[in-house]
Amino acid sequence: MEYEEFLGFVKSRRTIRAIKPDPLPAETVQKLLEVARWAPTGFNMQPAELIVVEDAELRQKIKIIVDDYKNSDFFALEATRESWQGSPWTPETHGRWDTPLAPVFIVVAGDTRRRVGLPMVARYCRQKGDSIFESSLANVFMYLWLGAHCLGLAAQPVSGVKYPKVQGLVKALLGLPDFLYVYDILLVGYSAMEEGPSAKLVRSLEEMVHYDRAEEGEFLSEEELRRQIVKLRAGNVARHAEAERGR
Ligand SMILES: Cc1cc2nc3c(=O)[nH]c(=O)nc-3n(C[C@H](O)[C@H](O)[C@H](O)COP(=O)(O)O)c2cc1C
Repeated sequence: MEYEEFLGFVKSRRTIRAIKPDPLPAETVQKLLEVARWAPTGFNMQPAELIVVEDAELRQKIKIIVDDYKNSDFFALEATRESWQGSPWTPETHGRWDTPLAPVFIVVAGDTRRRVGLPMVARYCRQKGDSIFESSLANVFMYLWLGAHCLGLAAQPVSGVKYPKVQGLVKALLGLPDFLYVYDILLVGYSAMEEGPSAKLVRSLEEMVHYDRAEEGEFLSEEELRRQIVKLRAGNVARHAEAERGR
């Protein structure tokens, strides 16, 4: 693959939150699962377990669990924003959370028992073990997402599943054993957006790359950083609004 082709592919992968309920062919789902199998993992421990949820009742129940958390705890905590962050997201400004009923929910979980395969140092330094485990699952998740994009599908993460209440309820619903940690859920299906998502704000290489050393003067000041954060978040707001329009 040529570099330009690869760059174009990476640049065109986006989060698509408007997903049609139409089912996906089984071969398509198999294809993106196959991509995930090849993701690099720390010390080749391959901790990921993928639970493909297509059953309509289970998807509906997961949606209810996630929406309930988003429409309660998420918005409740948003109301505690510091003033520099701008107005908090509220159901009035952003609409009540309404997870799309994509035809396939792929639950990416990690088998915590596989952590014993990490080097001994990870056993005695919990943070190191957690970091390798989590990063490995992140790689699998991103490979899935790229696989979906390559197949022309829309995908949206549902990271709210990391919150204890959501994690517990989803695990109980799907009958997952205690040793599984649910890392995230990727919703996959056909895009319901008529046009592609709007351009996204991306930090410049000049700002983010440092050569040999990275001394304090090369970084944004606290003030500049906060201004940038507000802009980047606003980009997200626009995309949420787009998704709403696409439904
Ligand atoms: C680790 C991670 C967690 C995310 N969690 C969610 C999520 O729970 N819900 C959601 O709608 N988007 C989620 N996103 C999507 C991001 O908001 C999105 O990737 C970001 O705004 C950049 O937009 P893009 O994916 O279109 O490039 C997540 C993305 C990442 C990388």
